[in-house]
Amino acid sequence: MLIDRYKRIINYLRVSITDYCNLKCIYCAPYGGGAKLPHKEILRYEEILRIIKTGIRLGISKVRITGGEPLARKGVYGFLSKLMGLDGLSDVSLTTNGVMLKKNINRIKDAGIKRINISIDTLHKEKFKEITGRDHFNLVREGINLALKKGFNPVKLNVVVLPGINDDELTAFARLTLDNPFHIRFIEYMPIGTDIIDVKKRLLYPEIKARLGGIGEMIPVENGINDGPVMRYKYKGAAGEIGFISPISNHFCSTCNRLRLTASGHLRPCLLSDRQVDLKTPLRSGASDQEIADIFLKTVFFKSFEHHLTADGAAGIAGQMQAIGG
Ligand code: 5AD
Repeated sequence: MLIDRYKRIINYLRVSITDYCNLKCIYCAPYGGGAKLPHKEILRYEEILRIIKTGIRLGISKVRITGGEPLARKGVYGFLSKLMGLDGLSDVSLTTNGVMLKKNINRIKDAGIKRINISIDTLHKEKFKEITGRDHFNLVREGINLALKKGFNPVKLNVVVLPGINDDELTAFARLTLDNPFHIRFIEYMPIGTDIIDVKKRLLYPEIKARLGGIGEMIPVENGINDGPVMRYKYKGAAGEIGFISPISNHFCSTCNRLRLTASGHLRPCLLSDRQVDLKTPLRSGASDQEIADIFLKTVFFKSFEHHLTADGAAGIAGQMQAIGG
């Protein structure tokens, strides 16, 4: 079992399979994407699967595949099939920007993936281009609609709340859930790498929620076992749900159950800390399963009680979200 110094049980591994992304979102890759890791520095799929298998033996039961953009990595569908074939995982999901969804939705489905999160921060084509640097809005919207049609359940939409950029669209996003079974997740912007939002203008959960109250009665929804730190609500009679993820206003660290594996093969105890433990070097020098397990245990030991990102400033986290996987 993976249990940290604060008695939290760690059963969730987020796996970034590439640091490359085909979008350059202003809040995630503020320097235009940064350097891509050389091919040999990225874990091979067999290496990732071996690490996940070790994690499963230690109690990992939930895995999310992220990037960069995971669907941009060659061979990803074969990898997803192998991942779905592993014994011991009760939940496997995928986070994508949706650009390659339309073309590949059947391959994702055939691999056995049932749940999918799509990042989309605006419902306007022009603004999409401003935020992401690419003119792919229509492709993403079509991909999202197709995901619903193909029966992915739930189809979650991640919306990072960016004051002055998309906060005029929060109600439009929330309204989508009235007639469509989307689960929309409003995520507080986290100042990572570089801070693009004026500290004084931060828009946090209480206000985001208040702004959405006018649409209708918001009924709290109880969290499921695989939910993590979201606060879920449903408008009365709505087909879908909304939810709030508030890493800044409401530290949910006390219930944190996760580790992250970066594309470069490092285990990270916390998204919001630069600490990481190298797994790739030992793996490539012939480490035994026990030695890999020991690195998991060491990383879990390094989990801090909480992160130090607050509403009034950045905590000086150097990494870019793109490299860690959000
Ligand atoms: N703040 C909040 N969320 C972010 N994401 C990426 N960068 C940030 C940030 N600075 C989100 C993406 C994606 C998820 C994996 O992380 O929008 O949906």
